[in-house]
Amino acid sequence: MPDTPPPTNQTSVLFICLGNICRSPLAEGIFTSLVTQRDLTHNFRIDSCGTGHWHVGNPPDPRSILVAAKNNIDITHLRARQYHPKLDPESFDLLIAMDNANARDIIDLGAPEHKVKLIRTFDPTLEANTTPDVPDPYYGGDSGFDHVHDMLLRACTGLLDHLGH
Ligand code: 4NP
Repeated sequence: MPDTPPPTNQTSVLFICLGNICRSPLAEGIFTSLVTQRDLTHNFRIDSCGTGHWHVGNPPDPRSILVAAKNNIDITHLRARQYHPKLDPESFDLLIAMDNANARDIIDLGAPEHKVKLIRTFDPTLEANTTPDVPDPYYGGDSGFDHVHDMLLRACTGLLDHLGH
């Protein structure tokens, strides 16, 4: 049997943070879970990365793994990788940054601005005058990860709704 060709309407989404161990792997896990629940796995290619190199090859932070598991999402298999300034903008439709610093960093590296979005701008409940940044929970306590999870769930749901599936 020949392989089925990939669907031409596939949307590719790359979630980007600084270390690729806290926020963006959690976003990847949450978005993948929503896509699976809606039976849309063939319509998406989903990945995450970090602008920094410090954690390349490492699994997600144990606190991200824990908050994902509490919400029935397994992210233990993910491994951090660094954003590639040439290949990633070419091969992904959407470059979804966790905060303004991540967005600015990849734009400075040449990413086309029309592909770069801040994840919280897809949260329909985000109030005006609220920063659209997902706060970096790395140096804080466990409750920061619950907060980031809830934020990312609202934003990822909004993103999937926005993409029209
Ligand atoms: P993330 O969090 O960008 O959400 O993965 C961080 C993880 C590690 C570091 C900074 C942020 N760090 O400086 O090592």
